[in-house]
Amino acid sequence: MRTKVAIIGAGPAGLLLGRLLENAGIETVILERRSQDYVLGRIRAGVLEQGTVELLDRAGVGERMHADGLIHDGVEFCFDGDKHRFNFRELIGRTVMVYGQTEVTRDLMQARDASGAKTVYESENVSLHDFDSDKPRVRYVKDGIEHELACDFIAGCDGYHGVSRASVPAGSIRTFERVYPFGWLGILVDRPPVAEELIYAHHERGFALCSMRSPTRSRYYVQVPTDEKVEEWSDDRFWDELRRRVDDETAEHLATGPSIEKSIAPLRSFVAEPLRFGRLFLAGDAAHIVPPTGAKGLNLAASDVGVLADALIEFYADRSPAGIDGYSARVLSRIWKAERFSWWMTSILHTFPDTDTFSRRIQRAEFDYLRSSEVAARSLAENYTGLPI
Ligand code: APR
Ligand code: PHB
Repeated sequence: MRTKVAIIGAGPAGLLLGRLLENAGIETVILERRSQDYVLGRIRAGVLEQGTVELLDRAGVGERMHADGLIHDGVEFCFDGDKHRFNFRELIGRTVMVYGQTEVTRDLMQARDASGAKTVYESENVSLHDFDSDKPRVRYVKDGIEHELACDFIAGCDGYHGVSRASVPAGSIRTFERVYPFGWLGILVDRPPVAEELIYAHHERGFALCSMRSPTRSRYYVQVPTDEKVEEWSDDRFWDELRRRVDDETAEHLATGPSIEKSIAPLRSFVAEPLRFGRLFLAGDAAHIVPPTGAKGLNLAASDVGVLADALIEFYADRSPAGIDGYSARVLSRIWKAERFSWWMTSILHTFPDTDTFSRRIQRAEFDYLRSSEVAARSLAENYTGLPI
């Protein structure tokens, strides 16, 4: 079997890349380890930068997003009970779209299925070969039968634990990592959100976040120690802890109910460099991980893929290598700025186990500076709504 671009992974990065390339007449095959249902069962973040919205529109999958997505003009920070709203639209004339990653994935999957482009779900033992030559190959097993896919390029969109980055010779790649001493316990509940916009709360007991998926479905998080077990958290214990960490008005208006999903996710910052190895490119979580505080994970994956798609389209249209030669440096510049912002948001909003009184005063000073300086607030707004690609 042969194709132009072999894409490893049918998460948002792989599916969006597939759509952008197929729409440009470039044939792709996606190899995905899991089933479609499994991929759609993942509960992930839900804040889209305007650049991501534009890419999804360009991919031809924006209809449901514009119908069901919620435009948010800003967010609220709550620091030990003091609340302050940052109005992005007023500060820098930009907004964000709240629309769950699961729905983004569903829209991309449905578009790909309708186009007839080939996706091999439950493909096993995917292995990458000869990507340091102009004849790369991918091998995989499907229903017990071994296959080989010849291609021009391989896009490693297979996430942090994928095979693509692991296939790069150790001496050809550098990684940078910061593991945080806490995780996020998240629940999904079919109750109206407690507020119209997101509330990021700092409290001495730990961070909390009030978010949503729709006018009838809410998403909440509380910071927990890294060794916490989700089975130790009843719904009632979660609601009690959340109420302690937010301001009184929010606590009073919280609409609680039975969780329909409950899980703990670790927090880490991670970047691999470079992101191009001959005919292999890394994009999305395969290339980087951000703590979810800044809502950058999906948006970084989308911006990587937008740059990679343009580079590959240019290569096939003009036989010009300029875009593919410049891919790694161009996306890494934006990746590191998003890493910085996500690290900064995480640092000011969470309670660190080994913190001291000086560090807590600095966290408070960060909040006081943000709410008293338009310049500081504009910087927050610029980063949260997305830096230029
Ligand atoms: N072979 C084939 N597919 C694989 C392999 C493999 N060896 N390893 C992983 N995969 C698949 C996973 O099953 C997953 O569906 O690759 C896909 C990677 O998708 P994501 O992990 O969602 O990564 P990405 O598409 O880059 O999207 C990033 O997802 O994890 C969130 O916070 C992150 O919002 C961000 C977004
Ligand atoms: C979410 O709704 O899951 C969400 C929103 C904003 C974040 C992280 C997660 O920063």
